[in-house]
Amino acid sequence: MKPTVAPFPAARLRRTRSSAALRNLVRENTLTPDDLIWPVFVRDGEGIEEPIASMPGVVRRSVDKIAEAAIEAQALGIPAICVFPYTDASLKTEDCAEAWNPDNLSNRAVRAIKAAAPDLAVMTDVALDPYNINGHDGYVVDGEIVNDATVEALVKMTLAQAEAGADIIGPSDMMDGRIGAMRSALEQHGHHNVTILSYAAKYASAFYGPFRDAVGASGALKGDKKTYQMDPANSDEALRLIERDLNEGADMVMVKPGMPYLDICRRVKDGFGVPTYAYQVSGEYAMVQAAAQNGWIDGEKIMLESLMCFKRAGCDGVLTYFAPAVARILNG
Ligand code: PBG
Repeated sequence: MKPTVAPFPAARLRRTRSSAALRNLVRENTLTPDDLIWPVFVRDGEGIEEPIASMPGVVRRSVDKIAEAAIEAQALGIPAICVFPYTDASLKTEDCAEAWNPDNLSNRAVRAIKAAAPDLAVMTDVALDPYNINGHDGYVVDGEIVNDATVEALVKMTLAQAEAGADIIGPSDMMDGRIGAMRSALEQHGHHNVTILSYAAKYASAFYGPFRDAVGASGALKGDKKTYQMDPANSDEALRLIERDLNEGADMVMVKPGMPYLDICRRVKDGFGVPTYAYQVSGEYAMVQAAAQNGWIDGEKIMLESLMCFKRAGCDGVLTYFAPAVARILNG
């Protein structure tokens, strides 16, 4: 559709910007707490809220504190929380068995959240990196990140998370064939309503740096993730990945990172019309916070503007570390 514009001065496009009332009336997109998924970091212990140096304002919480955070999120009207575990180095192995331990940190956090805030949807992360001695999302055999054996492990991990009560499974691993394998395992085990939000277009990005500190994976990671995560130069390939994951049974799809990849969000929304999410990742968060702390930008305004931009780009929601702060502002 081509917008029509009368010649000047019949058309003065400033007219509809001339008052707050008119601007409110013509606004094309809105941001509400319903658009937010809040990623949180869980660690061992009790009564702990431990700051993460590279993510000012974000903490690692013990399970009891995660439950409190979940109650807060529910009260703020945030629909979903996403759990990432900070796994002790002693639990990282080559076979990553901790990943499907029913009582691992992530699964304990899921149960605690469900008990404390039953209306909140709980999302989990499926990838081996928190449990892998190599820091990779998949098994490493002779220097290669192997696909099919990793998918088998991811399926076990998925089932353990669904048993713990996860509502949204978030495969962030970028192995081939994992969505179909997870979907059929979930169906076979009666988890018909457990949804899959596939990290379908996930790029090999330097914007994940602070997150790897947050989950304690930076030290462990050898090499890079370029054989499984996407090349930031590519766009058509993202559409193939999205289509493939939808065909395998993904209920929702994600583009990651967020703000530098809004062109991909728009293509995905226009191309498929499915529930589309973006992840405003740790590096994006850290950049805003660092500049705000220096007084170089207005952090609050940039937070709100950046999240609105995701909506404008076609996203139905955003995973963002700003979720509680932004919900508080939006709720007045
Ligand atoms: C790991 C995973 C990563 C993120 C979410 N899940 C990092 C990575 O792929 O190395 C990044 C999130 C962020 O940077 O905020 N599977």
